[in-house]
Amino acid sequence: MKSSQKKFRSQKHKQPLVLGIETSCDETSCAILRGKDEMLSNIISSSLFRHKPFGGVVPEIASRHSLEQMQVVLDQALQTAKVKLKDLDLIAVTYGPGLIGSLFVGVCFAKALSYALGIPLIGVNHLEAHLVASFIGAKQPVNFIGLLVSGGHTHLSYHRKNRVQILGATVDDAAGEAFDKVAKLLGLEYPGGPVIDQLSREGNAGRFKFTLPKQNQRFGFSFSGIKTAVLYAVKNFRKENHLSVGDALPGQFVRDMAAGFQSSVVDWLCMKTLDAACHKKVKDVVVGGGVSANSFLKQELTRRAAEFGIKVWFPERTLALDNAAMIARRGLELYESGKISKLSLTAEPNLKIKT
Ligand code: KG4
Ligand code: ZN
Repeated sequence: MKSSQKKFRSQKHKQPLVLGIETSCDETSCAILRGKDEMLSNIISSSLFRHKPFGGVVPEIASRHSLEQMQVVLDQALQTAKVKLKDLDLIAVTYGPGLIGSLFVGVCFAKALSYALGIPLIGVNHLEAHLVASFIGAKQPVNFIGLLVSGGHTHLSYHRKNRVQILGATVDDAAGEAFDKVAKLLGLEYPGGPVIDQLSREGNAGRFKFTLPKQNQRFGFSFSGIKTAVLYAVKNFRKENHLSVGDALPGQFVRDMAAGFQSSVVDWLCMKTLDAACHKKVKDVVVGGGVSANSFLKQELTRRAAEFGIKVWFPERTLALDNAAMIARRGLELYESGKISKLSLTAEPNLKIKT
């Protein structure tokens, strides 16, 4: 990306119309934002139902779904926003991290549109976008701690006047991945996060307790230990109750285990996040990524942060999961700071956050 003039070619609107495109994993999404705050549409087509039988996302199925849905989703986004292609001022697209095939669909589509319409293109980092999802329609704090908890990534970051410092990350599984793997061990469907969230409401979190994993990094995470602890607890339970591998686990056992697991993960996330906020003396914490949809995390982090006078920002549900509105929001922010992408922009599956 290089610096360029910040003016919009058309100058048709007081606030630019930005098209966001997101295809990093199993969702295909297009959104239209007027400026950074007005969300005119945010259409999401999920291929989740196609992956469920396999217990996880199948990359080939995800990219084929995006290829089929891209134009349909774009048409619907334009229609809902009541705008035409020629009205657009900027195109923002996720170029990483994610599945290479899926990313390519969005990036190629965005480049073709940008070229055909003669409007600028901006490549967006999916992880950075998750952390601005809560700011659509709100005044963004200058300094904050970011907690990113998605299916593929988990880290704590410190944001100060547009500069980002990664404070710590998971050394093994991501938080969402842990939810998905534990759900599988309990015989629950994919994705595990929403199911565990739901079942935990009727579970006794005190029945199974998990200890905080040993961590060298003050702001780092580790989730593979708890997954192994659940695996052994399930194995022991089966042995003691003479259940074979194919037998379903009793409902109350599953609910209690789900609640115990969720409560431990949420406890660790809250502890580390609030430690980081106090360490950096900030009064705002921003949560992003799929796990930010977790109701217990929202309840606990908000309650515990309030004791320190800290405000926690959670995106509303449709903005918590993968969506193009957050891509448009981040894209406009980058463009206004002088960034622009060339038509040589390509998919970067292992893209990192710029620090
Ligand atoms: O951000 P996201 O939509 O996709 C990635 O970029 O990875 O996150 C997906 C992850 C999945 O692992 C899913 O189980 C988890 O978010 N998730 C949840 C909840 N809803 C989705 N985890 C816990 N509680 C939820 N309610
Ligand atoms: Zn995501």
